[in-house]
Amino acid sequence: MKQPFFYDITLRDGNQALKKPWQLADKKIIFEKLLDLNVQAVEVGFPASSDMDFEACRELSKMAPSNLVVSGLARCVKSDIISAIDAISVAKTPRVHTFLTLSPFHVKYVLDKTPEEARKIAVDAVKFAYDELIKTNKNGQIQFSVEHFGDCIENLDFVIDTLKEIVQMGACVLNLPNTVERTHPSEFVKMIEKVRNEIDESVIISVHNHNDLGMATATTVESYFKGAVQLECALNGLGERAGNTNFYEVAVALHNSGVDVPVDLSKIYETALTVAQMAKVPIWEKAPLIGPDALAHRSGIHQDGAYKTKDMEKGAYRPIHPSLIGRNDDEKLAITSQSGKTAIFEVITHAGYPITIQEAVRLAPIVKNAAEKVGELPTSSIIDIYFNETFNVKGDFKLVRFDYLKGDTFTFDFFYKDKEFKVEGKGNGPVDACVQALKKSGFDVKLLHYEQSAIDEEIMGSTSVAMTVVHLEDKNGAEIIARARHGSTAVANIKAIFNALNIIYKNK
Ligand code: KIV
Ligand code: ZN
Repeated sequence: MKQPFFYDITLRDGNQALKKPWQLADKKIIFEKLLDLNVQAVEVGFPASSDMDFEACRELSKMAPSNLVVSGLARCVKSDIISAIDAISVAKTPRVHTFLTLSPFHVKYVLDKTPEEARKIAVDAVKFAYDELIKTNKNGQIQFSVEHFGDCIENLDFVIDTLKEIVQMGACVLNLPNTVERTHPSEFVKMIEKVRNEIDESVIISVHNHNDLGMATATTVESYFKGAVQLECALNGLGERAGNTNFYEVAVALHNSGVDVPVDLSKIYETALTVAQMAKVPIWEKAPLIGPDALAHRSGIHQDGAYKTKDMEKGAYRPIHPSLIGRNDDEKLAITSQSGKTAIFEVITHAGYPITIQEAVRLAPIVKNAAEKVGELPTSSIIDIYFNETFNVKGDFKLVRFDYLKGDTFTFDFFYKDKEFKVEGKGNGPVDACVQALKKSGFDVKLLHYEQSAIDEEIMGSTSVAMTVVHLEDKNGAEIIARARHGSTAVANIKAIFNALNIIYKNK
């Protein structure tokens, strides 16, 4: 399989569809980006379209490195061809790209010609272009495009015969566009395969697909596997109407299929941002690979898979590792009513706060409930919920007072629902003593684990804060994790236990 040859059309087909076409300075910036991407050919413009475009084509041709094919578009009209030659022949490898429709519909209704007349115009133009270009640059090449090739199913044999003649006149590249995406991928690639099989192998077959129905990438990629080596693509998919084939999608799709893609993929993301800004065509939120939202996961199932595979090359729910295209690894777990525990755990942990998965499970319905009302929640709202529901759990237990009597004896007053309890407990440390006192009052919990730590004051926004984490077992054997924080260790301890009680006895 031959390496794909990336022929970029951003500066011509992309540019002609802009609300404000680029001037030379803009084209230079995009041209540099194309060189950074390491494309093999650039169609720099349509020199006959305006003096401005002629100048831009000439300047870019001067800047072009020797290994780059520089192409200029020309209708099958002598003055266009001369203009293109004048603009680009200074390049080391200039290419005149001339085109004519051979589709029965267009030949009849747009050109108002017979098929034979159209054929003669194309053949004569290619001969003229070749003879003139070769006089000025012996490396010159001629590319011929069958505009509306996708509409040529019914006269494909005629098209192929014409192309054979065009090759004899000097064209070395035959470009076969789906000018308006009316022909679906499998049908189009059969046509490509037929042309490939009937045209001399030395001639490069190219495809140029517009994206009217959103299948241009598929058509281009599949055409490559049928022998179309030159792939005409545009950065950010710019181009007439719904645009041209998106460069990035084709490059990455081929890379993912194991093809050796001669492009610096790591430059894609940065290029996309520049192009969007310069074209004043924002990147659609959901644009494949480059969309601002293309790395977000909102459903709990996807969030769980994404989290579990986040450090792996292949992620559970992404086509590539973002670094392949030079994008930060900012797979985002966004929280909505569809989200789950994993995302809550990840968002809180990422913000620098302590949480366990069990606590995230408990927070999930509260977060979902909040998100149902407003949609996606910002991190600050999730953290507010975390603080309220973790460090200050509301419920039927209300601590009134506590005190050490002596040594390991502990006394405290609290309300459960409306009943007041005044209790005293003795145990292996104050937390155990507290649990013993609760048991005596009929609240049967068992202390499984207890830990104390100091919390980074910057994170918790206060000075010298102690945090207590307790694991209690309820009378059904379920383990409940609760935590509390306070400037005093003793207060943090007892608050942690009361937070746990309010979780255990919720709705009882
Ligand atoms: O879409 C098209 O057919 C074109 C040709 C000029 C190649 O842009
Ligand atoms: Zn086009």
